[in-house]
Amino acid sequence: MATTTGTPPSPPATGPSVPTAPRRRWWRRPWIAPLAFVTVVFIAFSLPPYLTGDPATSRIPQPEGFPAHYPLLVAHVLFASVAMLTCFFQVWPWFRGRYPVVHRYTGRVYVFAGVLPAGLTGLVIGAGTPFGPVQAASNVMLALLWLGFTAAGYRMARQRRFVEHRRWMLRSFALTFSIITNRIWGVIVFLVLSPQLDTTFQGNETMLSWTVASLGGWLGWTVPLLISQWWLDRGDAAKRRARLRSRPS
Ligand code: HEM
Repeated sequence: MATTTGTPPSPPATGPSVPTAPRRRWWRRPWIAPLAFVTVVFIAFSLPPYLTGDPATSRIPQPEGFPAHYPLLVAHVLFASVAMLTCFFQVWPWFRGRYPVVHRYTGRVYVFAGVLPAGLTGLVIGAGTPFGPVQAASNVMLALLWLGFTAAGYRMARQRRFVEHRRWMLRSFALTFSIITNRIWGVIVFLVLSPQLDTTFQGNETMLSWTVASLGGWLGWTVPLLISQWWLDRGDAAKRRARLRSRPS
């Protein structure tokens, strides 16, 4: 993840400016190309089954007594894809520095055509998930935090408080991309737990699938959120050390 430390932005004529990242070639930022790759691969893999309009192609079983589940899920997947794509451009330092005006517009698309509708639909289908109450709790927490962090980041940008804007949006970014770590955890947890089907889970496949989904759900977003906080604290500590060093003794 990029930091804004290093090269300070040039002083603005009026009011604070959006902090720009130091100019560095894209290959000096080893996370950009992999992030672009996983974004494209994830969307290319996830989206097509939900473009058919046929509930039979959904990877999520429809919960009983919840007929709106499928249309809400399709809406969620479409808006969430918008959020993920725009989020990639928002966190790409070169793009932000090169096209600051576009950054503002894609930011609005991220908030109003991505996170807001995807988070609200995720909240509703998340509360009624077919994978049990532990997964429902994870979904609801994730949706509320995603909406909350993004709203806080947007508000800070409107108030031109760009340091706080960056902090909230970094947390929002961590949650947007947590959908990918969620899938990775799902595979790991499945590989670890499936040999225990006949022991720990007493042959109950539903219990196994609920446990895999729930552990993948919780680990999927809590770990990236902790890492994003560590990243922010690390930047703060570096700035404090630099201030102390520059103080006259
Ligand atoms: C960060 C907040 C998010 C929340 C709260 C959320 C919530 C949900 C929920 C509740 C489901 C149904 C599964 C279940 O019942 O447990 C789901 C499915 C899905 N979500 Fe999200 N989601 C979020 C972010 C995203 C993002 C950023 C994407 C990126 C495109 C995404 C793509 C999908 C897809 C493709 C499915 C269908 C499952 C599949 O086909 O594998 N979600 N989401």
